[in-house]
Amino acid sequence: MRILIVGDVFSKLGRASLEENLPRLRQEYQIDFTIVNGENTSHGKGINENHYKWMLSLGVDAITLGNHSFHNKDIYRYIDGVNNIIRPCNYIKDKPGKPYQQFTCKNKTITVFQVLGQVFMQEHVLSPFEKTEEILQNVPSDIYICDFHGEATSEKIAFAHHFDGRIHIIYGTHTHVQTNDARILPKGTAFITDVGMTGPHEGVIGVEKEIVIARFLQETKHRFTPQNTGKRQFNGIIIDFNEHTQTSTIFQVLNIVE
Ligand SMILES: [Fe+2]
Ligand SMILES: [Fe+2]
Repeated sequence: MRILIVGDVFSKLGRASLEENLPRLRQEYQIDFTIVNGENTSHGKGINENHYKWMLSLGVDAITLGNHSFHNKDIYRYIDGVNNIIRPCNYIKDKPGKPYQQFTCKNKTITVFQVLGQVFMQEHVLSPFEKTEEILQNVPSDIYICDFHGEATSEKIAFAHHFDGRIHIIYGTHTHVQTNDARILPKGTAFITDVGMTGPHEGVIGVEKEIVIARFLQETKHRFTPQNTGKRQFNGIIIDFNEHTQTSTIFQVLNIVE
């Protein structure tokens, strides 16, 4: 089966890019299963119900979140009533929503889950290693796919090696910068440290560049505003998973700037 994973959709330009590219890519490459990171969909933080429904209308099967999961308060109204949004599984206190979700594709069970990293992240969370072990031991599945939402490349790479051969696809999100290291690890896990962002190309990881520069130069505390002008980018990865041999190949890494 062919699986498309799309990096963090960021605000207005991210939504425009997703709308333009996703239906086309799904058709052109005959995608069987699509996962999108939606933590920045609505004004850069969180995802409201309208945007959630709009994403499904484009053909998205599963939506993962991240450290901004609950920043748009609308989510508290609808997250418990839906079965295709996955929030991080390693919060210290229980949160609304699903820590993992199972899907059926080509008669196989796919378990999608997400962990938050512990390095350079504001939120304190339980060990992503231990929570993942718990899921692998308690949730039977044909295929496991993990979105590692973290800042540190080393943490994601260590995690991927640790679970190499046990999780079929591990991909990073959160930094909004695509890494050039998509590969199949020695025991068969398909891995990329970060798939990147689908959003503005000319801001600073999605935010208006002037605001971020001013924060560095003058130590100002202006509120972050999404970059809504200029070029946009679509970042993702397509992985072919052979359900008979249980092996993966990297079909294509997507970095479309327009
Ligand atoms: Fe993000
Ligand atoms: Fe994030």
